[in-house]
Amino acid sequence: MASSDQTRLLLVEDVPQVAQYIRGLLNAQTSVKLLDVMADGSKVLPQVQQLRPDVILVDALLQGRVKGLALAEQILAGGYGIPVIILTVPQNPVSADPTKGVHGVLAMPFSGFDLLNVIGAVRKDFAQLSTTGSSRIYSVFAPKGGVGKTTMAFNLAVALGLADQRTVLIDGSLQFGDLRALLKVPVDAPSILDLPTDRVAESDLQDVLWRDPSGIDILLAPPRVEMAEMVTSRDIDKILSLLRRVYGAIVIDMSAALSDINLAFLDLSDTIVEIVTYDSTTIRNTIAVADAFRMIGYPASKVRYLVNRADSLGGIDPADLAHALGRVPEHHVVSDGMLVVQSNNEGVPFVLADPSAQISQDLHRVAADLLTAGGIVRPAAAAGRR
Ligand SMILES: Nc1ncnc2c1ncn2[C@@H]1O[C@H](COP(=O)(O)OP(=O)(O)OP(=O)(O)O)[C@@H](O)[C@H]1O
Ligand SMILES: [Mg+2]
Repeated sequence: MASSDQTRLLLVEDVPQVAQYIRGLLNAQTSVKLLDVMADGSKVLPQVQQLRPDVILVDALLQGRVKGLALAEQILAGGYGIPVIILTVPQNPVSADPTKGVHGVLAMPFSGFDLLNVIGAVRKDFAQLSTTGSSRIYSVFAPKGGVGKTTMAFNLAVALGLADQRTVLIDGSLQFGDLRALLKVPVDAPSILDLPTDRVAESDLQDVLWRDPSGIDILLAPPRVEMAEMVTSRDIDKILSLLRRVYGAIVIDMSAALSDINLAFLDLSDTIVEIVTYDSTTIRNTIAVADAFRMIGYPASKVRYLVNRADSLGGIDPADLAHALGRVPEHHVVSDGMLVVQSNNEGVPFVLADPSAQISQDLHRVAADLLTAGGIVRPAAAAGRR
């Protein structure tokens, strides 16, 4: 998997001496790579689309049809999600204003140190801004196999999609990815391993994601068990921040272990939807995990418990479950053997196969509650973003 921490810079500068000076400064280091120098502001957008730089440095005093500040606004309006630094002179002061597409300012004269500093700061601020945006990561986890993680994750993702969230489902069960089989995906369909982690082009995503007929996009696990090791927790970091820029909701179907990869998924999740069932082993493991989460420092509010097969008590009193968990579980989904088995066998989500079934309505409620809890209660605005 390709990966790099290098910042890829596009320079828009029509004064050859200044361009040459910046080239010289960047030649002396490796953390910033200069992709291209463009002199004509009117030709920049197609190149941005093509190169997908991490940062764009634009001369405010650009001559020609499109001036520097206008170009910054065009880049913002283009929705590329790329920060712009404006290069100016003291006589022409410019202030940073992200609402106008100006994320940083660099005034001449400047040193290599100043240049790298402003690039680093803008990139960091911008990443924070993007991760605190409206995008939400929900990991569907349980410390026990076979409790319905894949079934819930798939249907929850589709329900979030129906609630106007642009949604991607990640098969985070990297060794024994369940979604390939569930969705009857061809063996050669691309997987998480095909995603470049050093570029942020939405077009790359489109080539790698499986577009399910249910309306959501799916990032599949590697096609072979031994390939799971090729994915590192650093890759997980990069993949999630890339997906956050494009999707409103990211749902992760996880495996049962507390491995490094799973901890990377969990760390980055806004909410852990933890599946519990009325089964004494599951409950015991859930309590053990709650302890581990406390030790890691996760706030209790990061976890929301989902009782699956909530109508199959198996002799356990719901009050005892609440007592064991330390609170009443947030979500309940009933059992529906016929519908779930048939939908899973056909590779369709039950929320679409039979929207009026109790289990489908339960999943819609889970999706709505998660959106409300995350402060996302404006589906109309989300729809407009598509
Ligand atoms: N609410 C439900 N009602 C009926 N059957 C269900 C329900 N939830 C899950 N199942 C069934 O339970 C089985 C296990 O579900 P699933 O594969 O989703 O679990 P999992 O936690 O992802 O398992 P694994 O640990 O193997 O990844 C499946 O056969 C599924 O059809
Ligand atoms: Mg599974």
